[in-house]
Amino acid sequence: MNADQFTTEERAGEVQGSLRVLWRYLWEVPYVGVLLIPNVVFALVPAVLYQLFMWLSGKLAECGSLAECSPVQIVGGIQLEPAIPLLSLLAVVVIIARFTEWCVIECGGQIATRGLLEKMVRGVGGVRTTFFDEYPSGKIINRLVKDADQLRATAPIRLGDSTASVVELAVTAAVMGIASPWAAAVAFPMLLFFFYVQRNIAPMLQRVLMLRSARFGEVIHRETDVIEGVRAFVLYGQLSALMGRLSDSLYRFMQMHFLRGTIEAWGRFLSDVGIALYGTGVLVVVCLGLHYGTLSPVMGVVVVSASFRLGSVFSWLTWSFGLIFETAGHARRVFEYVDLPREETEEGFVPPPREESPQVPDGDLRIEAYSMSYRPQTPVIFERLSLSIERNTKVGLIGRTGAGKSSLVQALFRMVYVRSGDIKVGSESILAMPIEQARSLFAVVPQDPYLFEGTVRSNVDRMGEFADEQVSEALNAVQLPLDLSANLLEGGSNLSLGQRQLVCLARVMLSRRPFVIMDEPTSGVDAITDAIIQGVLRDALRDRTIITIAHRLETLARMDRIIELEHGVIVRDGTPSEIMRVITPEELA
Ligand SMILES: Nc1ncnc2c1ncn2[C@@H]1O[C@H](COP(=O)(O)OP(=O)(O)OP(=O)(O)O)[C@@H](O)[C@H]1O
Ligand SMILES: [Mg+2]
Repeated sequence: MNADQFTTEERAGEVQGSLRVLWRYLWEVPYVGVLLIPNVVFALVPAVLYQLFMWLSGKLAECGSLAECSPVQIVGGIQLEPAIPLLSLLAVVVIIARFTEWCVIECGGQIATRGLLEKMVRGVGGVRTTFFDEYPSGKIINRLVKDADQLRATAPIRLGDSTASVVELAVTAAVMGIASPWAAAVAFPMLLFFFYVQRNIAPMLQRVLMLRSARFGEVIHRETDVIEGVRAFVLYGQLSALMGRLSDSLYRFMQMHFLRGTIEAWGRFLSDVGIALYGTGVLVVVCLGLHYGTLSPVMGVVVVSASFRLGSVFSWLTWSFGLIFETAGHARRVFEYVDLPREETEEGFVPPPREESPQVPDGDLRIEAYSMSYRPQTPVIFERLSLSIERNTKVGLIGRTGAGKSSLVQALFRMVYVRSGDIKVGSESILAMPIEQARSLFAVVPQDPYLFEGTVRSNVDRMGEFADEQVSEALNAVQLPLDLSANLLEGGSNLSLGQRQLVCLARVMLSRRPFVIMDEPTSGVDAITDAIIQGVLRDALRDRTIITIAHRLETLARMDRIIELEHGVIVRDGTPSEIMRVITPEELA
């Protein structure tokens, strides 16, 4: 798929409202919702105290001088020290309330969001493997790393900030309404204007943020290309073309940054115009009130300071709404991964819950009128395929490229979309088993094995179930006497392809899985190593059923049976001598 295009989920996300996504976030991480309640209380304290602060300041100014300013004049009869310590105390309380508000939402919220991110990783881990064919790597990395982390870091604090701003707005408007209903009335058109601006700016911003995220995924995708493909491009003298592609996608990403900045600046400009008009309106109301004696100078101070406060809260709300939409975008992308269909569900086979049988099913492998495709909408690969493989036989699977050999292996591992039919081991359907149990029947030596960074021992005995002697014995059997504590690099890159296959074979020997699948490379191992592998199959693995995707005549000669596939259909099936008579070496290559 082209990284420039949006996926279906992204297109669907366009119509999904940001507020709905944020609501879901609060629902999924209820702890953040609960934290918003003390956050509102802590936000109320500074909002109320600020107004009291202004009122006291006005009173203080009215006194003329500190000496004349008796405490009685200030707080109506309660004996207090002069106003300055009281104002200082209020300032300290405001700071403490603000800090507590921040601590509650920031620290608590981040811990709470962790569970959601775990769900996201589980969502990706439980998805069908063909998902990775369709999604560019940059997009997946972008979501798992950037979106997840941004959501963790920003969602609680931005939601907390926005609710605090709304509380402050309500308190300030209420105080202004008490001080001068006319001044409060002037705020009404500003409120309408603010919502009008938001209604127009928000969808634009949401869309551009979505585009920006897609572009960022594309940048990571191209960077992965550079890392993976740099050798080939250097070899053909095309490095500048590779770099050019990366720079193009970076440029497209920067364009979205610029567009976002432009939209935000336009939104802020409109809000500032609204705030300036509103400030002028309030000043006119205050001047008229003072002129006609309907407003005392102290209340005038309160109204003017409240109007400034209201203006800055509006300005902050415009800003924080933009941030909230950005957070909603991260949340939407995280939820898409949380909601990814699990592979069992997508396959159409949801086995009823049942006790996992302690007995590993063993017996003949029977594929019965089995039809499959990789996804529901992609072409059918096998159409009513029937095949029976007797227990403990060694089967060679051959066929031209694209014949369906690897697809048959994928089918056994239940990594494809089953349309009809069944696959049984003995009398048990592997399609009706829990997926982990079905997969535990098969051990595999892949064509291009990926080993994990760590010791040789941890790669041969993944679960740490076997003694050192058993692990060494398995390595000796495949004639790869590596030191158990030797370190392997990421992917096993400090071993040759053939050696990596031998490590896998040693792993298969230790596992007691009744079926072994070998995807033999044409050039990974030499004739001597091939003979070693065949010896292991004959001796150590003699009591297992082995299916080998084989290309070498020597390998095929040692099989009990050979099956040839062509376009998903069995075209030949017989003993090596029967098949060798009719097949040419070119057909195997
Ligand atoms: N992940 C996939 N998604 C969709 N179609 C696929 C996928 N993998 C393989 N196919 C299709 O399945 C068919 C059989 O491919 P398969 O990989 O099984 O061939 P093969 O016999 O293993 O070939 P080769 O010898 O080249 O490895 C091909 O037509 C291929 O296009
Ligand atoms: Mg293949």
